[in-house]
Amino acid sequence: ISRSFSSSAVRQSVIKNVTIIGGGLMGAGIAQVAASTGHNVVMVDQNDEILSKSKANIAKSLQRVVKKKFAEKPQEGEAFVSDVLNRLQTNTDAVDSVKNTDLVIEAIVENLDVKKQLFAALDKAAPQSAIFASNTSSIPIKEIAVSTSRLDRFGGLHYFNPVPMMKLVEVIRIPETSDETFNSLLSFGKAMGKVTVNCKDTPGFIVNRLLVPYMMEAVRMVERGEATPQDIDTAMKLGAGYPMGPFELTDYVGLDTCKFIMDGWSQKFPDNPLFAQSPLLNKYVAEGKLGNKVGEGFYKTK
Ligand code: CAA
Ligand code: NAD
Repeated sequence: ISRSFSSSAVRQSVIKNVTIIGGGLMGAGIAQVAASTGHNVVMVDQNDEILSKSKANIAKSLQRVVKKKFAEKPQEGEAFVSDVLNRLQTNTDAVDSVKNTDLVIEAIVENLDVKKQLFAALDKAAPQSAIFASNTSSIPIKEIAVSTSRLDRFGGLHYFNPVPMMKLVEVIRIPETSDETFNSLLSFGKAMGKVTVNCKDTPGFIVNRLLVPYMMEAVRMVERGEATPQDIDTAMKLGAGYPMGPFELTDYVGLDTCKFIMDGWSQKFPDNPLFAQSPLLNKYVAEGKLGNKVGEGFYKTK
């Protein structure tokens, strides 16, 4: 990791080697964009089968990007794809993967205990200078960070699905995050070609604090028998200009991820009706209808 001073003399580290833990929907997207923007990336997941699926998804997504970006120059497009894939390594051993890392971005299951266990192990293995960040949708960053001894080098980097298309990253600091760490995270977000916004370490940060209650109220409309998912989706796309209706979006995000978010929030804020549990969402998750990633959620996609 090298230190640099920008013209405004803001202290920050230049991030070159990035470890992404979790190669699911989000981890694969973050790994793809980090490698596409010149970073050396190691993507970690629980086994090789998952990792080869992640790599296949990345290859598919890269083809979609290249089809547009290099429409007139297919050879340059091919070279770009092979460069990106060369910068992208995989590993099934998280502890081993962080030995030379500058930045760890965690994108595993939305479960506080599992995230804490992971970070506690990584804290012992990663270089002192390495920065840790979580992509959590709903868990306060501080609650995860306390599993480590590097609160000053800990923050949140919250990306949006699909990462190659969504231009935003929310950058979160906890009170202990140093200015140097925060500046490094902001610069890294920009180096990935994203627009950054800052938000306090508050539930759901900016986007999910508004978007998740909206999605859940749509589910409650169906529970109350007020309209069908199809009509609600059509209404929000054609009447409010959203690219996807709330049910398409829930299927896209993953019903399990939505349930993890709602479980955490309803437990923590039992009196807030915006965070109330939804019997319909819970039923779909119990039936394994987790959304597009399994081919069925509110809609069948396979
Ligand atoms: N990789 C690369 N390119 C992609 C892509 C991907 N995964 N997905 C879409 N694209 C690009 C492609 O270029 C595609 O063109 P081709 O089909 O020719 O390849 C182009 O986008 C248009 O895609 P589609 O025609 O399939 O559909 P669309 O016009 O509806 O655009 C979308 C897709 C960008 C995803 C758009 O529907 C959208 O913005 N949806 C809302 C997404 C959203 O709200 N995300 C946030 C979710 S919340 C979250 O992430 C936070 C959390 O913590 C839960
Ligand atoms: P996902 O289920 O698609 O992927 C999670 C991956 O993590 C899986 O491949 C799983 O095998 C792996 N994993 C689980 N435990 C692990 C461990 N201990 N070590 C290594 N790998 C492990 O989930 P996702 O949608 O990619 O979400 C990941 C994180 O990102 C969650 O915290 C979620 O809240 C957040 N997030 C999700 C979205 C979204 O739209 N889905 C958007 C932003 C943030």
